[in-house]
Amino acid sequence: MAGIRTAGRYRSPRAFDGLGPVGTLGDGTKVVSFAGNDYLGLSEHPALREAAHEALERWGTGATAARLVVGSRPVHDELEAELAAWKGAEAAVLFGTGFQANLGVVTTFGGPGTLVVSDELNHASIIDGARLARAEVAVVRHVDVQAVEHRLAGHDGPAVVVTDTVFSMDGDLAPVDDLAEVCGRHGALLVLDEAHAVLGPEAPSGAELVRVGTLSKALASVGGFAVADRPLTELLVNRARSYIFTTATPPADSAAALAAVRVVRSAEGDVRRAALRANVERLRPGHPSPIIPVLVGDEGRALAVSDELLRRGLLVPAIRPPTVAPGTCRLRVAVSAAHTDEQLDELADALGVLVPAWRGE
Ligand SMILES: Cc1ncc(COP(=O)(O)O)c(C=O)c1O
Repeated sequence: MAGIRTAGRYRSPRAFDGLGPVGTLGDGTKVVSFAGNDYLGLSEHPALREAAHEALERWGTGATAARLVVGSRPVHDELEAELAAWKGAEAAVLFGTGFQANLGVVTTFGGPGTLVVSDELNHASIIDGARLARAEVAVVRHVDVQAVEHRLAGHDGPAVVVTDTVFSMDGDLAPVDDLAEVCGRHGALLVLDEAHAVLGPEAPSGAELVRVGTLSKALASVGGFAVADRPLTELLVNRARSYIFTTATPPADSAAALAAVRVVRSAEGDVRRAALRANVERLRPGHPSPIIPVLVGDEGRALAVSDELLRRGLLVPAIRPPTVAPGTCRLRVAVSAAHTDEQLDELADALGVLVPAWRGE
């Protein structure tokens, strides 16, 4: 702890009491949050709340054990079927979190003798999964398809290519079509982490694919999942330690997630995605995702800007090492369909004063 404090890297969660993007801090200050990943504004949706309430009445609170031990509540099976149908896949497997889903997928399909090719900006759960897999790991330059191809060409044996499809701290997209083409040619399994892929990219065809998602961000609940052809999901159920050795998601959370997927697949989902797209355009025209990084560089400066925004009632977290590389500190703006034009304009005006170049990045 002394080392962390001396380095100026001490962190602790702040108090935030709120619903949707609006809330109050511990000292009672009212703020608009651009920190959560509630991209479609579903966290306050009546259908999700009602579904959770009903599930709570029917099944009570915790699931009490792992699914292979205690069994699946009907809502777990229904949610898997809905996720598979939504993603156009044969089958889905639920995990406790998106983090656990990545751990389970990467350790199951990676392993000694398998090459895991991983983008340098992949999420921590993918990095940890690759470490736990005891695979040969090739970390490649960000979104560099040629580097992926080079590593696959030089490897004799099974290979897995794994990437975030929307990078969580940069908001840029992976070249999924090109990766699928390269994987298809080399017989490698492509694992896509679509945790933030609410506005795309579309999943590619042409390679054997496992798609990982989270129920915790745009779907406003908690949990993770993987969809794939059934033999692959069956292997996950039988091999993924982060599936086997942990208690199933509480039924009320799965019920909320199921209601969320149904909203997302309905006409209302289209309306919410269009609202999100419009909100992103308002802040940074042409940006491909709801994660807008505002690069500041220096750690102290990033913290100072975040503090000043907070003083103005705008909660925008400063992102710094170890989450991003030293010298690339930034503010991470997460846009939601639930943000109003006034809230977005207030943020834009404040950023215009504090980080004048912010729109051009
Ligand atoms: C790209 C990516 N993958 C996976 C996760 C983990 O998802 P979860 O929060 O559901 O554990 C996150 C964020 O937390 C993420 O940003």
